[in-house]
Amino acid sequence: MRPLNPFAPTFGATPPMLAGRDGLLRDVLDALATGPTHPSYTSLLLGRRGSGKTVALEALRSAAQERGWLAISEAAVTGGLLNRLAHSTAEHLNKIADELATETTRDLAAAGLGLGPKYNPEADLSRRLAHLLRALASHLAAADSGIVVTVDEMHAGDVGELRMLGVTVQEVTRVEQLPLAFVGAGLPILEDTLLADSSVTFLQRCARYDIGFLEPPAAVTALAEPVRQRGGQMSSGAVDHAVTTSQGYPFLIQLVGFHAWEAAEDPTSRVTLDDVTSGSATALRQVGQLVVAPMWKDLPDGARRFLVAMAVDDGVSRMAAITKRLRASSGYASVYRQRLIKVGIVAPEGHGRLDFVLAAARQWIRSLDEYPVVCESLSLADRDPIGFARPVSTTNPDG
Ligand SMILES: Nc1ncnc2c1ncn2[C@@H]1O[C@H](COP(=O)(O)OP(=O)(O)OP(=O)(O)O)[C@@H](O)[C@H]1O
Ligand SMILES: [Mg+2]
Repeated sequence: MRPLNPFAPTFGATPPMLAGRDGLLRDVLDALATGPTHPSYTSLLLGRRGSGKTVALEALRSAAQERGWLAISEAAVTGGLLNRLAHSTAEHLNKIADELATETTRDLAAAGLGLGPKYNPEADLSRRLAHLLRALASHLAAADSGIVVTVDEMHAGDVGELRMLGVTVQEVTRVEQLPLAFVGAGLPILEDTLLADSSVTFLQRCARYDIGFLEPPAAVTALAEPVRQRGGQMSSGAVDHAVTTSQGYPFLIQLVGFHAWEAAEDPTSRVTLDDVTSGSATALRQVGQLVVAPMWKDLPDGARRFLVAMAVDDGVSRMAAITKRLRASSGYASVYRQRLIKVGIVAPEGHGRLDFVLAAARQWIRSLDEYPVVCESLSLADRDPIGFARPVSTTNPDG
């Protein structure tokens, strides 16, 4: 039977080796030990799709639990966040109802929050969140522990609810100094939406962590260590190639690792450069489908034309060239430039230059049926005639 593949190329799936997040984990755990005065006691993790926000939250959650803290975790994607958080808190209170101080039980009852048989799982508790968290946090404070609330997908949340959550955490943590820590996560677009809203000062004051691509040493660990732990060896050439292909992008690291493992004859003995080369080709095709295609689907025609005008280059594109190819004004081109940077598909690469964040995006765009059609509508005088032989790839490891 084939040995079980350790890599986890699925969104939200814990990787076999969580690499490059030690600083974040250390800061947040230090904060829990120090108390609400620590700057990382309330934190926000910002990063692109597939950069590892959900698994970082999960790692923080379980590390906090190991230290005896209680974790309450939700995603903001669907409405009713406050109500869900309140019910989770009420359920925890219910479990320890016998241990609560009489005063706490009395306060809760006075606020209409019955425990035990009086607990109504159907009730709307969204306005009672502060009450419930305060009761639970005061109880846990006596035992030197606390609550860590984690909220994923903040960019998709309801602004009113997130604002209220901020006010609640602020009140319990900052004002009353009770042990209620908070870690939120979302796409960088949060900077322009929620974090730009002057009424959410609490969130603006959270410590920010950039959940970015992994540096090469961390990417090496993420790729080689899971193989080593199963008795296998990756040659240094194989590791280097895997690191280069993945660009340190966590989701692509898992895809490359997964397919290299599948390509190997006996991965528990060795994974060779050939295995990585063949695995990388599959991984790059899949990352196009799984990451680039959903972004593309949501883009207007103008933004797609902009990306095609970039994809004709084999590497970094000059803004001046893109603008010319689009036959557009520099104002028009820079609107799309900004928008595509926000989406996370391209990034500035020095003054007046732009590149795809994932080299695989260029390949994916070139493989589209509409690519030659759009190219024909562009002014490509600065390029050798493409005809429609597609430009040769410099990044495809098979090439
Ligand atoms: N530090 C890491 N080291 C190795 N692999 C990682 C790391 N972080 C995440 N991964 C892997 O990357 C993939 C994406 O992780 P995750 O789902 O947490 O990303 P995300 O930022 O939450 O994405 P989205 O914005 O789509 O929700 C998963 O396959 C996960 O196993
Ligand atoms: Mg996620």
